[in-house]
Amino acid sequence: MKILVIGSGGREHALCWAISASPLCDKLYCAPGNAGIARVADCVDVAATDLPRILDFCLSTQIDFVVVGPEDPLCAGLVDQLAEAGIKAFGPSAAAAQLEGSKRFTKELCQEARIPTARFQAFTEAAPALDYVASHPYPLVVKADGLAAGKGVTIAETQEQAETAIKDVFDGRFGVAELVIEECLVGEEASFFALVDGDHVLPLASAQDHKRVGDGDTGPNTGGMGAYSPAPVMTEETTARVMADIIEPTVAALKARGIPYRGVLYAGLMLTDDGPKLIEYNVRFGDPECQVLMMRLMSDLLPALVATCDGVLDHVDLRWFDKTAMTVVMATEGYPGSYPKGTEIKGLDAAMALDDVEVFHAGTIQRDGKILSNGGRVLNITALGGNVADARDRAYAAIERIEWPEGFYRRDIGWRAL
Ligand code: AMP
Ligand code: GLY
Repeated sequence: MKILVIGSGGREHALCWAISASPLCDKLYCAPGNAGIARVADCVDVAATDLPRILDFCLSTQIDFVVVGPEDPLCAGLVDQLAEAGIKAFGPSAAAAQLEGSKRFTKELCQEARIPTARFQAFTEAAPALDYVASHPYPLVVKADGLAAGKGVTIAETQEQAETAIKDVFDGRFGVAELVIEECLVGEEASFFALVDGDHVLPLASAQDHKRVGDGDTGPNTGGMGAYSPAPVMTEETTARVMADIIEPTVAALKARGIPYRGVLYAGLMLTDDGPKLIEYNVRFGDPECQVLMMRLMSDLLPALVATCDGVLDHVDLRWFDKTAMTVVMATEGYPGSYPKGTEIKGLDAAMALDDVEVFHAGTIQRDGKILSNGGRVLNITALGGNVADARDRAYAAIERIEWPEGFYRRDIGWRAL
């Protein structure tokens, strides 16, 4: 098969790494890719959101299969457009991608299918939202309704904070003029991933992310500073409940609405005293969660992705290493605020030489034989170990070998599981 992966982050590097190892993969391309991805795929200079050029490339290169990494092209209908052109693609249709693109869509689906989630109210105008936060107990969660790259959520402890969050949304800070207000759930967060082919669900694995930039979960939110899989809190019993109470009813409700879900379903969960509840869905692999899932996957990924598109996941059985994978994100000093680009990184080969270590690139470019930083999150140092402590020790030992004065990383990835 000739395969095209869409995206340029650590998630896409991990996907390309796994797909390039498949005997079914004859030729692998990635648009636009990065310096690490270039080691396993031909990078194509086309942006992940440039749908017309992606379509042109697929037709002119006779691509057999497309794997879409990020949410924006999914919500914009890339998979629908590829299907119309006769090209098989992994990822949900635009209609099904509303699970991530519209919080209101998901909350209403949960209500209809009796899926446990935070109580909510949706608003399209400021005045009723302001009335609502004047008469409900705190904390309250205010969410801009749309793709806000994780930045549209405020946990308001006071009415003043809630009012500011509401005004921010209706002043157009997130490019949308809708919001939902939710009750605040209390518990430990975990993520759960499953492949869905419209009908059948194949559970993948659990993971836990670290969203705050600083040690001890302090400082502003980021795209994720590190992750590990499995998440020890996701016991067999909890996983069975998540499947039965959350994932299966979601898949059935979407099918009943005539918008079957095909792709990877990423459930963000709160494990409360009343059992697991859905915080949100994403319609793609997590970044950096994908990196730890790929590290643990023993089976060939590619046939499972194709089976997801073909509706035959009931014939797929994936095997996993009975180990823990951890990834530590190295970011440019300044992230998630502003940061410089183009700083030189050395020592990557020395880090990769360690056993059970992979360095996935999240934001790098190669120039004159040098690897340079090219983003906020830059590298994902990923290791496999016998347990969380072992995986952590291996990942941090690899970081010791990387010379990059402008980079930083959290030193406590995995603390919840240790
Ligand atoms: P989201 O973009 O919906 O994943 O929200 C970002 C983060 O806000 C989540 O990872 C949670 O930590 C937190 N959060 C979102 N909704 C709630 C809620 N209803 N209760 C408590 N925390 C929440
Ligand atoms: N790591 C969080 C996300 O991918 O949404």
